[in-house]
Amino acid sequence: MTPFIPEDKLMEIKDAASLEEVVGQYVKLVQRGRNLLGLCPFHADTKPSFTVAPDKGIFHCFGCGAGGNVFSFLMQYHRLSFPEAVQELAKRYGIPITFRELGPEGGKSAQKRQLMQEINTLAAAFYQAFLKGSEGQAGREYLVQRGLTEEVIKAFHLGYAPNQWDALRLHLQNRGISLEVAQEVGLLVPRQSGGHYDRFRDRIIFPIEDRQGRVMAFGGRVVGEGEPKYLNSPESPLYSKGRHLFGLPQAAEVLRQTGVALVVEGYLDLLALRVHGIAPVLATLGTALTREQVRLLKSLVSKVVLVFDGDQAGARAMQRALPLFGQEGLAVRVLPLPPGLDPDSYAFKNGVEIFRSPWESAQPWFSYLMEELIKAHGLEIEGRVRILEELKPYLQNLADPVEQGLWLKVAAERLKVDEATLRRSLTSLGPMAAGRLAPAGQLLVNLEKGLLKWVLHHPTAVPWEELEEWAQEFEDQELKGLMALIINNFREYGGLDHSLLIQQVEAENLRQQICALTLGEEEFCGPAVDLRAADWRRFLKIRRLKKVKQALKEKLEGAVAADGHEEVPALQAKDQEIDRQLEALKVGPIAEGEN
Ligand code: GTP
Ligand code: MN
Repeated sequence: MTPFIPEDKLMEIKDAASLEEVVGQYVKLVQRGRNLLGLCPFHADTKPSFTVAPDKGIFHCFGCGAGGNVFSFLMQYHRLSFPEAVQELAKRYGIPITFRELGPEGGKSAQKRQLMQEINTLAAAFYQAFLKGSEGQAGREYLVQRGLTEEVIKAFHLGYAPNQWDALRLHLQNRGISLEVAQEVGLLVPRQSGGHYDRFRDRIIFPIEDRQGRVMAFGGRVVGEGEPKYLNSPESPLYSKGRHLFGLPQAAEVLRQTGVALVVEGYLDLLALRVHGIAPVLATLGTALTREQVRLLKSLVSKVVLVFDGDQAGARAMQRALPLFGQEGLAVRVLPLPPGLDPDSYAFKNGVEIFRSPWESAQPWFSYLMEELIKAHGLEIEGRVRILEELKPYLQNLADPVEQGLWLKVAAERLKVDEATLRRSLTSLGPMAAGRLAPAGQLLVNLEKGLLKWVLHHPTAVPWEELEEWAQEFEDQELKGLMALIINNFREYGGLDHSLLIQQVEAENLRQQICALTLGEEEFCGPAVDLRAADWRRFLKIRRLKKVKQALKEKLEGAVAADGHEEVPALQAKDQEIDRQLEALKVGPIAEGEN
């Protein structure tokens, strides 16, 4: 799967990278025996199914079946290509890697992203300088009028795009930057007549940064009144607005400390809170909160408080976001503001007391939702029926059955309905947890699979030369190939490195299977390992004998049909010998019930 990146380079990066450390950045892990356990970032997980084996360098989720090594993790988590994941890790762990080593395709896309990144950084510095200069005066005054301080302006790297059509273009051109790439990242817009002009003009610039503080995109606000109020970078290979949150690098440290994030809707809401000393805040980027953003939040904190504008739109946005938290299993509360106020105006009018212990000030999401619905539909019979209908999907959505049960009780009491009836009406629309059942983690019915599992757990229990003999008996071609690969690893490297094995397997489902088998329960340890080895040997012998017996039987039939009777006694003798051998082997539990 890696025709372009040299194997030794891959090994170097893989060995330098700690899976535990990389995963730990996004998933809270706790030690459980030799392994680490956490909530799976790849599905709505509620009962830690995500297992990381630091000694083997692989992970596996017993819930959704996701699995792989450190490269696969980054690929899946950030939706990177393989070369991009390799490059990312090389960078993190300070291993030099050339674009040539990344191969033609990977090199190109990684190189492109890096270039886009550099152009953004250049542009951010350019805008920042303009905000400080004479042309930025009106912008500065506006920000001061909005109550922003020098300190906050600096911390968030705010800037100003001058009121010219080609200021940035000339700036980039003078530095020999490709204008096509600058166009791709959205800073320049192509003219119909050819050439480019600046997208952002006479606007206050909000750089949107990723966790590491790299500039991914920009938001631009008119100075004062005007339409459109905001102009944002378009989607690009670098940026997708549903996957980022504004203010991340500035809040990261305090989020780690408090474990609670406030989520607001606007750049200026966030900055206003920051002016008032409220730091653990993130802002969405002009879209409804997405699943990806909720997952991003889940990797940062254990609790989220939604603070949306005190209007209809804010309430709707909040209601739309709630099911995502339920599905992703992230605790959420809501802090609705009085009508007509957003966090920005609220903070300047009433101060920020309520934001100091946001979790305590906030309302449980379900109560909030129910009260909103009661306000809308009333508590007459018709209203209550309607409210229950509308609450149903929220309840059915919850990944956690305990939480579901608790809210059910609350709803039954508040709406004066029989709890059992309510419960029945919920389940009548389909079992709540169904459809969430794991595809992987299936029972290991196949004995070859069992054997493979055993080898993955105890790679050194039998010499690889013997494994080679075993592998010859395999009938499942996929599993046989896997055994051959394992043996090859022994031959080449003198041992088995699980994460390397993952690397060598091309098919995603096979990789997942290796992880599932390796991290699945293995009941044999200590002296039992040797017994098990003996068991497998016997099982394989029986299998081979049975195959020979089958072949003999066909030969015998053939001989009889072809009137070649002189062969018959010899064949029969052989068959009896095989029966004797089989009989002798028939002692352990495994011999029975096998084909
Ligand atoms: P102020 O209105 O200056 O207080 O800014 P705000 O950040 O509070 O904006 P508002 O509450 O109106 O909108 C919330 C967020 O939605 C903004 O921060 C933007 O990300 C986005 N947004 C608002 N208006 C527009 C618009 O006209 N175009 C685009 N693309 N996004 C917008
Ligand atoms: Mn506002």
